[in-house]
Amino acid sequence: MVRFDSNFIIPFKSLFIQPVKRHAAFVLGGILALMGWSGMVHAADPGNGGKIYATHCSNCHGEDGTSTMPGTPDFSRRERLFKPDMALLVSIRDGISVMPAYKGLLTDQEILDIVAYLRTLR
Ligand code: HEC
Repeated sequence: MVRFDSNFIIPFKSLFIQPVKRHAAFVLGGILALMGWSGMVHAADPGNGGKIYATHCSNCHGEDGTSTMPGTPDFSRRERLFKPDMALLVSIRDGISVMPAYKGLLTDQEILDIVAYLRTLR
């Protein structure tokens, strides 16, 4: 009759199961990072952003980022552009004071394209 020796099983468990768990966590982290990368952070296109800006934003922010409305940041002087892309994305997506929210109208990628365009204004 075969008897399992627990001294054999237990070290085997700790050698095999633990690394598998760690490996799974690593793979999961990799997948999440990849999703984030492909969903959000692929290279923004300032050319496309400029076209969208001319349609949706230039009324208030001016063709060249020089504001025509009081209280509107002047992008040609890089006002507010010290904020990170993701913070500007949130302001544009959700709106800020009198500026309307663009959620549902523009995708996050389109907004990031506009942000890239804003950073080219001088
Ligand atoms: C109705 C006029 C209006 C329109 C249209 C408008 N904005 Fe604004 N925007 C403002 C005003 C006013 C502020 C300043 C809000 C404040 O900080 O109180 C502002 C602020 C901003 C800021 C700074 C946000 C921050 O976090 O400080 C960014 C970036 C911006 N607008 C981008 C855009 C983009 C891109 C569009 C087009 C998709 C757009 N705006 C359309 C009026 C407008």
